[in-house]
Formats: sequence, structure tokens, C-alpha cells
Amino acid sequence: MRLPWKKDASYSPDSPQRKYPNSLLKKFSKAILVLYVISVVISIPSIYAVTYFQVRAGADKELSLLVDMVTAVRKYIAVDVRSDLMEANLFHSPAISSTVTTSRVAKHFREMRPEYYIKVASDNPLNPKNKPDQFEWEVIGRFRSDDTLDRIIEVGSINNQDYLVSSRPSRAKKGCLRCHGEPNAAPEAIKAKYGISEGYRYKVGGVVGAIVVGVPMEDVNALVLKRGLIGLGVLTAIFTVIFLTVSNIVKRQIVQPVDQITDIAVALSKGKLNKNIHMERDGSEIGELGHAMQLVQRSLVFAMKKIRK
Ligand code: HEC
Repeated sequence: MRLPWKKDASYSPDSPQRKYPNSLLKKFSKAILVLYVISVVISIPSIYAVTYFQVRAGADKELSLLVDMVTAVRKYIAVDVRSDLMEANLFHSPAISSTVTTSRVAKHFREMRPEYYIKVASDNPLNPKNKPDQFEWEVIGRFRSDDTLDRIIEVGSINNQDYLVSSRPSRAKKGCLRCHGEPNAAPEAIKAKYGISEGYRYKVGGVVGAIVVGVPMEDVNALVLKRGLIGLGVLTAIFTVIFLTVSNIVKRQIVQPVDQITDIAVALSKGKLNKNIHMERDGSEIGELGHAMQLVQRSLVFAMKKIRK
């Protein structure tokens, strides 16, 4: 019996390796590749978000500790020291002005911990060391333009290093004028030490500077890069294992048996009825297909015998 499509060239029965332009394995590989790319694309921003959150939370914790410590020092001067000294008419500025105390404490603290930042900055300072840098200029400007603003917490760059910074305005009160009022009326010791050109003529209620406390922020980008590379490595390893496992299963459980069944179907179409089907009926869809093929083969053998008789 000759079947009309027998000479169909696209079939090459018995060839051990068939070539399919659109093979199942290719489809599975593509799907895995797409999943891999999606995972990478999702993981990078996630790593960034988690890292930023962690760095920020760590800095927040440190900052609130440092700010509270500075506040406690200032309170100590205001509550426990100042009034007694004023009563005794003693004007030793580090013991009377909590601002001076803050900048002195900051100086000693930074000798031990240079990475931290504490400064009482003013654009009209007695001590030129307290002149604001770019970031502090802006902060002081914002406090001046908004009276209700009591604290700014934000990430800022000071000396090319990122800090999480808490800034509070320093407002002049009447008591400040004792030293920061008219220069001629200022205590001799202060005039002698700081001169009479800057740091005076405060106006009560005005913002004269800012108390800036900063803790260093870890470099988020560098951390993200490091973690991103590790994440990429892990994802690649996982997807390689998935790819190898899936392609192995697809090859052994689907592609090879289907190839075999195709071979047999082609052979049958050419009238070769004696080809053996080596396929277990293992309860899978493919096993069942092989079994059905065996049934077809048997029926054909039977029919041919009948015809020949
Ligand atoms: C007993 C004198 C005295 C009093 C009172 C005083 N200060 Fe000062 N203040 C000083 C001295 C001295 C410095 C310089 C400290 C240094 O060398 O860092 C200073 C520094 C400052 C600075 C840093 C900028 C600069 O001038 O170097 C600010 C801001 C400041 N004082 C604000 C205040 C405010 C606000 C008050 C009132 C709440 C006040 N001070 C009260 C003596 C005083």
C-alpha cells in the first residue's frame, strides 16, 4: 500500500536527531530565559529599596541617639549650670551658653569619632570655624524663610560625604545679647578672643544659625552594586540548575519518546509495519500515546493480513 504523502521530504524517519525549528526544548528554554530576565529586572530595584531602607534605618537610629545626647548636654547647661553662674556673675561662655558648650563638646567628640558631624553653624559667627558650608547655608536659609520649621531631617552631602543630618534652628533670645548684642557691650574676654567684627548684633527671635548633627550614611550605591552582583550570581546559579533539570526532563520524557512515535508513524505511513515500539506504558500521556500507536500498528498488521488473503 502506497500512501500519497509518503514522499514528504520534511520527514526523515529513523534519523537519530531530528531538527525542529520551533522545538519544545527551545520553547521551554525561552520561557526560562524570560523568567530569568524578569527576575533580574525585579531584583535590582528590590535590592536597592531594601538596602536604602536598611541604611536609612541604621542612620536614623544613630542620629536620634546623637541628637538626644547633644540635647541632653544643652539642657545640662541651661538647667543645671547657667543660673548659678549668672547669679555669681561669672561669664565663662562654655559654661553659660549651651551653644558654646555644644560646639566644644562637638570638638572633643569628633576627636574621638571624626566620622560624625556636630556643628553649630552661623553665617554671622564669632568663631570663623563655625561658618556654614553649602549644605548648612541652605538649611539656615530654610529656617529663616519658614518660622514654623523646627527641625529638618534629610540626607545631605557635607565634605563630599553623605550624612543623615538633623538640623535645628538656633534662635536669638534676650539672654544671647549679653555676648552677641552690640559688640562694645560684649564681655571683654569675648571681644579679646573673637574680635568685634562678626558674631554680634543678634535680633531677638531671629534665626542666627543652625545646630547640625549628622551621622555618616553608608554608600547605598556601592552596597547595592555588591549585593546586586551577589544576587545576580545566586539567580544565575538557580536558573542554570532549573534549566538543566527542565531540559533534561523535556528531552528524556517528551522529546525523545515523541520523536520515536513520529518515526513509527512515518514508518507506518510507508507501510513498514514491523518496526518495534520500545515504549513503556508508564501512566504518562506520552506512554499512553505510544501504547495507542502500538494498537494502530497491530490493527494495521491485522488489516494488511486480511487484505493480502
Ligand atoms: C556668655 C556668652 C554667650 C552667650 C550668652 C551666648 N553665646 Fe553664643 N557664642 C558665644 C561664644 C564665645 C561663641 C563662640 C564659640 C566657639 O568658639 O565655637 C558662641 C557661638 C555661637 C554660635 C556659633 C557661631 C559663632 O558665633 O561662632 C551660635 C549660633 C550662637 N553662639 C548662638 C547663641 C544663641 C542663640 C545664644 C542665646 C540662646 C547664645 N549664643 C548665647 C558666647 C555666648
